[in-house]
Amino acid sequence: MRVPIIAGNWKMNTTYDEALDLVEELIEGLDGRGEEAGEVVICPPFLWLLIVAEYLEGTTIALGAQNCNATDAGALTGEVSAAMLAQQCRYVIVGHSERRQGFGETDADVAAKAAAALRHGLRPIVCVGEELATRDAGHADVHIARQVTAAFADVDARQLADCVVAYEPIWAIGSGRAADGAEANRIAGVIRRALAARFDAAGAELVRIQYGGSVTDANIAEFMGQPEIDGALVGGASLKAEVFVRLCVAGVGGR
Ligand code: PGA
Repeated sequence: MRVPIIAGNWKMNTTYDEALDLVEELIEGLDGRGEEAGEVVICPPFLWLLIVAEYLEGTTIALGAQNCNATDAGALTGEVSAAMLAQQCRYVIVGHSERRQGFGETDADVAAKAAAALRHGLRPIVCVGEELATRDAGHADVHIARQVTAAFADVDARQLADCVVAYEPIWAIGSGRAADGAEANRIAGVIRRALAARFDAAGAELVRIQYGGSVTDANIAEFMGQPEIDGALVGGASLKAEVFVRLCVAGVGGR
């Protein structure tokens, strides 16, 4: 059985005070819920990870980072390694479309980051997704399958239970236009078949698949009700405590 997982990606948002207010409200609203129902993860900016980790200690909310460098240590100004993040976090987002598009991350970079995360005991949330033009041209399935195969190039089959894939159609991110639940479920099936081809069917069944892109407290149920979808990666709606608490309660259960 795959444990449902909802992750909040704060992106480059929150001041120090806002981050602490948000985490306090999330603890108030979400800590102590039945963890067997599902995991809740928050991914604040790098600079707030240490203090947020302190707040989350002993709670049922897990910590994640938004990116990592695949090299363990060295002369890489401004970078943060998976090895460092593993000391504070349980999860790390890799290959978000904002990093692929805005920072030139390639499939090979994403594969190296996922492998580095796993090497250090950090669970990668591997993001894949197509642009609208790719979808309109009828190439979404091929594009997604290729991204998944590439990202898992250096993953060992024994690590699959620690892996999460987030299907995030680029046109749905921050647009207020979420994908249709049934279509997101169909693409999750494409992802699982790509994993089965790379590993085997039993291995593919272990990987949790999230949907991401304009998920809110109003539409989370539509995605969680899909058989191939195990959770959500949430951007904008994870910055409002009230909304994110409602979203998580609706998605993975309250206390
Ligand atoms: P959104 O972002 O929920 O604001 O659409 C999702 C994401 O980029 O992970």
